[in-house]
Amino acid sequence: MAILITGGAGYIGSHTMVELLEAGRELVVVDNFVNSKAESLKRVKQITGKDFKFYEVDLLDYDALNKVFEENDIDSCIHFAGLKAVGESCSKPLLYYHNNITGTLNLCDIMQKHGAKRIVFSSSATVYGNPASVPITEDFPLSTTNPYGETKLTIERILKDLHAADNEWSVSILRYFNPIGAHKSGLIGEDPQGIPNNLLPYITQVASGRRECLSVFGNDYKTHDGTGVRDYIHVVDLAKAHLKAIERAETVTGVEHFNIGTGVGYSVLDIVKAYEKATGITINYKITARRPGDIDECYANPTKALNVLSWKAENNIEDMCRDSYNWQIKNPNGYEA
Ligand code: NAD
Ligand code: UD1
Repeated sequence: MAILITGGAGYIGSHTMVELLEAGRELVVVDNFVNSKAESLKRVKQITGKDFKFYEVDLLDYDALNKVFEENDIDSCIHFAGLKAVGESCSKPLLYYHNNITGTLNLCDIMQKHGAKRIVFSSSATVYGNPASVPITEDFPLSTTNPYGETKLTIERILKDLHAADNEWSVSILRYFNPIGAHKSGLIGEDPQGIPNNLLPYITQVASGRRECLSVFGNDYKTHDGTGVRDYIHVVDLAKAHLKAIERAETVTGVEHFNIGTGVGYSVLDIVKAYEKATGITINYKITARRPGDIDECYANPTKALNVLSWKAENNIEDMCRDSYNWQIKNPNGYEA
C-alpha cells in the first residue's frame, strides 16, 4: 500500500519524502509545481537512491486526481499541497480559498470513495491567531487574521466533520510553527520565488550577498529585546514528525491535533546572532517599522507530540542556521540551474 503525498515537490514535502523513503515507505506523489520545481523530486531520488511514482496533477482537477487513486493502492495521504503566502492571500483571497479548500474537498471525496481514510494535514500555528499567552497548547482558542489562516482553520473543521460523519477516518492535524533549515546534504531546501517574505530565507540571502540588508520589522514588541519571538523548527525534525503521525494514524482512528515546534522562542535578533555564530558571516540589518499583522510572541508547548507520537525536535538553532546557509551556498539560485 502506498502513501499519497500531495505537494511533495515543495519545501516540507520534499524533506518528508526523504524520511519516508528512508523508512522504506512506498510513495505516490502529486504536485502541480505552482510553487516548486521538478528538480526537487530528482534530488529526493539522489539523496535516498529510492524511486516513487509522480503525477503532475492539480488537486482542483478531480478526474485527474481520481485516476491517481484508480491506478495505485493508496491507503493514506500526507496533504501538503496548498498556497501559503499570507500577504498574497490578502490580495487574492478567492484564489486561496479555492485552491486550498476546494483542493482538499476533492482530495477527501476521492479518498473516501477509494476507502483511503487516513490523512495527515499540514496546518499552522497561524490558527492560534494572536495567542493570549505562551507557550501554546493544542486546546488554545482558535482564530485567524488572514485568508491563508482561514483556509487552514476551515480545513481543520472539514476534517473534524468528516470523522464525525464516518468514524473510520483517522485525521492527524500537525500545526507547524516556523520551519527553517534544509537537508544536511544541501541538495534540498527552501526555494522562495522573488523577494522572501519569511525571516530565514531573507537572512540567508543577505549572508550570501544576494540582498543588501535585513529589515528587522519592529523593536517595540513585548519581548526580551523588543523584536518578534517565534518557535523555529528544523525542517528535517518536522519531516520526521510526519512519519510518526502516519504510524500513529495506522493504529488509531479519530482526530488529533499536534503542535510541531521546539518549545523554545527566539527573537529576530537572537536569530541574527545565531546565524552569525553558525556561519561566521556578519548580517547587515536595520530596524524598520512593524509588519502589519505580526504578533509579539508565538511558541509551542510540544509535550503532546512527545507523549503521543514519541516525537521531539533534535536540532538546535545553530544547526538550523548552518543548514540553511549550506543549502544557499550550494544552490545560489535555488533549484534553477
Ligand atoms: P511549498 O509551497 O513549498 O509546497 C506546497 C506544494 O504544494 C508546492 O510544491 C506546490 O506546487 C503544491 N501545490 C499547491 N497547490 C496545489 C494544487 N492545487 N495541486 C497540486 N499541488 C499544489 O510550501 P511548504 O512550505 O512546503 O508548505 C507545505 C504545507 O505546509 C502547506 O500547506 C503550508 O501551508 C503548510 N505550512 C507551511 C509553513 C511554512 O512555514 N513553510 C508553516 C505552516 C504550515
Ligand atoms: C509567517 C506567517 C505565518 C506562516 C509562517 C510560515 C505572517 C503574519 N505570518 O509567520 O502565517 O505560517 O510565516 O510561512 O506572515 N521578520 C523580520 N524581517 C523579515 C522577515 C520577518 O523582522 O524580513 C520578523 C517578523 O516580524 C517575525 C519573525 O521575523 O517577528 C518571523 O517572521 P516570518 O519568518 O515571516 O514568520 P511568521 O511571521 O512567524
